[in-house]
Amino acid sequence: MSGSNEIGPPGLSRRSLLAGAGLGLAAAGAVAAQEVPPGLPGDGPPESDPDFAGQDTAAPSPEPVAAPGQNWDWVRSQWALDWSWVNLSAMLFASNPRIVRNAITRHREALDANPVTYLEANQRPLQNAARRAAGQYFGADPEAVALTESTTSGIGLVYNGLIIGYGEEVLTTTHDYYVTHESLRLAAQRNGATVRRISLFDQAREASIPQIVGRLMGAITERTRVLALTWVHSSTGLKMPIGAIARALRGVNAGREPHKRVLLCVDGVHGFGVEDETMETLGCDVLAAGCHKWLFGPRGTGVVFFRPDALPRFSPTIPSFLAPGAYSAWLGNYDPGPNTGARMTPGGFKAFEHVWALNEAFQFHNMVGKAAIAARTRQLASRLKLALSQMPHIALRTPIDPALSAGIVSFDVPGLSADGVVRRLRSARIIGSAAPYLTRHVRLTPSFRNTEADVDFAVQVLADIRR
Ligand SMILES: Cc1ncc(COP(=O)(O)O)c(C=O)c1O
Repeated sequence: MSGSNEIGPPGLSRRSLLAGAGLGLAAAGAVAAQEVPPGLPGDGPPESDPDFAGQDTAAPSPEPVAAPGQNWDWVRSQWALDWSWVNLSAMLFASNPRIVRNAITRHREALDANPVTYLEANQRPLQNAARRAAGQYFGADPEAVALTESTTSGIGLVYNGLIIGYGEEVLTTTHDYYVTHESLRLAAQRNGATVRRISLFDQAREASIPQIVGRLMGAITERTRVLALTWVHSSTGLKMPIGAIARALRGVNAGREPHKRVLLCVDGVHGFGVEDETMETLGCDVLAAGCHKWLFGPRGTGVVFFRPDALPRFSPTIPSFLAPGAYSAWLGNYDPGPNTGARMTPGGFKAFEHVWALNEAFQFHNMVGKAAIAARTRQLASRLKLALSQMPHIALRTPIDPALSAGIVSFDVPGLSADGVVRRLRSARIIGSAAPYLTRHVRLTPSFRNTEADVDFAVQVLADIRR
């Protein structure tokens, strides 16, 4: 452990990380300014709303953020978990690091003291600050970021809002999760589009990037308008090669008119907060993720990132309180104009103490460092996978290669049910889960708040599980 004031990749100081974050925020500060009438729910007077002057209005956290060295003990100390349990459960539901807990408390106390004035002062500025923080973290245009309540609500809004017609098709896979399949099924009932599912591999551990890309490209037809995929499968832990798929798709789209271009839409939740990627490096058109899993953000928060040129292919489902001009358009009875990330953000009053504390969740990740978090997660997941792969009584389901895996480690203990294994782990005070799919695998999901000792303890319990 280094005693220097450094965390993250060698040579990258905390100061430079924070400066980078600040630069990104400033550069991303141009969330559009448009007139809105004062005094309406969800709107505020534009002249009194500094956000509309394009300033960075994120309320500075009163807490000094300091990560002493590349010190995973310090990182771990930021959580208030019950440490008598080994939580290998980052893929499920977050508990928050201190800076996020404190931000939630600060906002909650202020809302309890005077809900209306605190709301009026902060509603739009702090939501836009969260969009800018999300955009900066994920290399995305903040104007094209929508805030949601979860991965599920984001995916529902994306596929419900997809502009697609009878005779056109969405291509998805048998490996995707319930929320993608069900959102597509519900949308297809209304828009008459076809949803087709294909299989990309028989065994995730034997899958290869050329095979996955080849099967997807081979299944695209003249009618295909969307590829609906999942970044990291929550059944087997396979990480889809989104970048390679996006590159191959460019060739398919080269000769197509814009409205017939095949969009790459991704449920990104199990890569978001884990992998050192951006919208640019992934190359997808839309990525939805909850912030209350691997990002360890406030419960009940999520984001959707759009490539700006994909936004016209979607329309909002829920009226926005955030979009400048939305109320004027309603009062003036005219169309509010082109689609934006703000318009895709559902309105209504919310648990704003959670929405606003998203800023600190991104701040925490930036401070620890995306590359450091990705490397630490990979190191712990690899340690677990290697140990399990050497146990003859365990069938590892997740690829070992980090190019095809992230933080989810899936496996079976032949002869025992997945639920039975999870119960046995719980009796040893280890939290894992069984995948809610037709074929149920056990999942342990180390993250950057875990230790080698956590992983080794799980390995030890699993070594003895059949006794
Ligand atoms: C792939 C995938 N997408 C979405 C979800 C649901 O996420 P959220 O709770 O953020 O809606 C899960 C499960 O938790 C999942 O495994």
